[in-house]
Amino acid sequence: MSRGSSDERLAPPSEPVPPRRAGLCSGGCAMSHAVAPGTPPLITVDKVCKRFGDNAVLREVSTQFHAGQVTVIIGASGSGKSTLLRTLNRLEVHDSGRIVVDGVEVNDDAKNLDALRAEVGMVFQQFNLFPHLTALENVALAPRRVRKLSREQAQLRAGELLERVGLKDHRHKHPFQLSGGQQQRVAIARALAMQPRVMLFDEPTSALDPEMVKEVLDVMKALARDGMTMIVVTHEMGFAREVGDRILFFDRGCIACDAPPIDFFDRQDNERIRAFLGQVGR
Ligand SMILES: Nc1ncnc2c1ncn2[C@@H]1O[C@H](COP(=O)(O)OP(=O)(O)OP(=O)(O)O)[C@@H](O)[C@H]1O
Ligand SMILES: [Mg+2]
Repeated sequence: MSRGSSDERLAPPSEPVPPRRAGLCSGGCAMSHAVAPGTPPLITVDKVCKRFGDNAVLREVSTQFHAGQVTVIIGASGSGKSTLLRTLNRLEVHDSGRIVVDGVEVNDDAKNLDALRAEVGMVFQQFNLFPHLTALENVALAPRRVRKLSREQAQLRAGELLERVGLKDHRHKHPFQLSGGQQQRVAIARALAMQPRVMLFDEPTSALDPEMVKEVLDVMKALARDGMTMIVVTHEMGFAREVGDRILFFDRGCIACDAPPIDFFDRQDNERIRAFLGQVGR
């Protein structure tokens, strides 16, 4: 579990650390996906603010995410990582600023919301599978209900997706018959079944026993290799370094650093971030 006491790892500064944009190339990244100059972003986040009561959780966050890129978000507990992910698909409503996903404004317009939910897949720390449905039925459910596929079509596609995440032989099992890693892979297949343009992962391996972390990360790596746009909140620094095109470091509701992995990990000159990395183990 990554939740807990990492707040104390960073001594609170008087002001958030100003964003640092490293313009150096990401040559050290094992899986880098270049963005052609002038390519419009898939997601634009512009001066987004979110408060819970007195707690300013997102403070004028502005950034962009490009198609095909893997962004890894890290930062102390409570810094706003999950809240940002949740605002991207309207699980959380932002107070001000704009979010645009593939040309669709994220707001309360029901039409936009339907379009948004179809474009954005999300995988959580807890798998949230329906316990009374098999793996196959869990994956086939949304395409049948939302995309109006026939039972046969939905199950055919679900079977293909379960094979893609290495669960071909487990399709007829119920969640209680599957390990945590297997359940999380079903959850990934379920999100993919809606054919999203972007996948959001919020600490997908944090609830898993260590021996199951790799099988889930391997599925995520394969997705990245296939060109899926991914935004991943994780404390798996090896994954961040190997798969991330870009690391965003959150500090008290602000993006304190936005850099390619090699700069973030090996050329980091921000003392607070260096201390954080020392704690989580890079
Ligand atoms: N629904 C909510 N109601 C009130 N406060 C909330 C709510 N959701 C989040 N918060 C608060 O917002 C802040 C940011 O929470 P968030 O979950 O985004 O942090 P995080 O960076 O994802 O942390 P962690 O690494 O622990 O998951 C925290 O102080 C949290 O307590
Ligand atoms: Mg979180």
